[in-house]
Amino acid sequence: MVSINRRAFLATSATIAAEIVLRLSGGGSQINDQLYAATPLPVRNSLPTDEMTLAARAARKGLQYGAATNHRFLRTDPAFAHAFARECSILVPEFEFKWSRIRPSAETFDFSASDWLFEFAEQHGLQVRGHPLVWHQALPRWFDSTVTPQNAERILVHHITTIVRRYAGRVHSWDVVNEAILPSRRSPDGLINSAWLKFLGPDYIDLAFRVAAEADPNAVLVLNDYGLDYETRHGKSKRRLVLSLLERLVAAGTPVHALGIQAHLRAWEDRFKPAEMQKFLQSVADLGLDVFVTELDVSDQKLPGQIEYRDEKVARVYRDYLDTVLSVPAVKLVITWGLSDRYTWLQYHRPRSDGLDVRPLPLDSDLQRKPAWTAIASAFDRASHRESR
Ligand code: XIL
Repeated sequence: MVSINRRAFLATSATIAAEIVLRLSGGGSQINDQLYAATPLPVRNSLPTDEMTLAARAARKGLQYGAATNHRFLRTDPAFAHAFARECSILVPEFEFKWSRIRPSAETFDFSASDWLFEFAEQHGLQVRGHPLVWHQALPRWFDSTVTPQNAERILVHHITTIVRRYAGRVHSWDVVNEAILPSRRSPDGLINSAWLKFLGPDYIDLAFRVAAEADPNAVLVLNDYGLDYETRHGKSKRRLVLSLLERLVAAGTPVHALGIQAHLRAWEDRFKPAEMQKFLQSVADLGLDVFVTELDVSDQKLPGQIEYRDEKVARVYRDYLDTVLSVPAVKLVITWGLSDRYTWLQYHRPRSDGLDVRPLPLDSDLQRKPAWTAIASAFDRASHRESR
């Protein structure tokens, strides 16, 4: 499914990333101080230099590791930026591509934040994953009063074409459609009742992928969704509906190349069934698609407060989840939704009721490696080597 060009790009980038991270793990700050003209030089953080970084551990297996972040954190927090460039080979803009940020009006784009991130990434040998082109959330205020059945197609095409062309040849992959599925008795195909569905019908998904492929014929194009991980009624429906959507897209010749599984996990629940997950991922692989873990984090929201206990539980979930998904060779990429507990969306979106800070990510809020880091690193060590296809 993935063309030679595209595969060659991913394989080459994996090799380049491996070289860069191996260099980085040898020590020495590679952060370009010019980016911090207005801030003091980065203080060397206390990450040990004798151990390989997550990106290096992944690269040894032909995998890639990265994290999502916001340009503000990188701009204002040199120690965090330093840790980010060390541990990751891919950067995902957490906010900078969302319509509410990049579309001040129906006619204009504001690329200042996304351009800055590309510059940061490229200066530090990181690749960028684009997220998301089409999503029913994070829409600008003008959206509802402006988008109509008459102009919806033009606005969607203009949005995708402008952004994808601007960064053509510079992205690892694009989340073209994010969270398209919401199981409901009223809709047999499970497509969420977004403005795009209302105005353009189910083919808005095909349209989005075709337009993205035209704008950058070598781009790796991803359908990204959440809630696919657990053996619950919701999880089972989501997997079934996502799989049938992918089957439909592939049969229609729509240029979709990978499924992104968000993987926002919960450490207090025991609803993960490895065999079922493997079966699902294998069905996706059988369609000729790759699988990317795109937004992994493990919430400790409802665990008891003791830190060692929480960290251990969270680490165990990372280990079990990654051992399972990495046993499927089509899984090529792991992104955590944030790198350090210093900056995690869960602190605001899923806070703990006891007021303690949440601890869902590989580094703690002092940028120290946690048991979660070790769990991810050793899952990469145990994974089989990915051949570039
Ligand atoms: C989240 C960001 O992390 C938050 O900062 C923001 O307020 C809301 O969105 N699924 C997605 C991501 O696809 O874009 C979301 O990111 C998390 C859930």
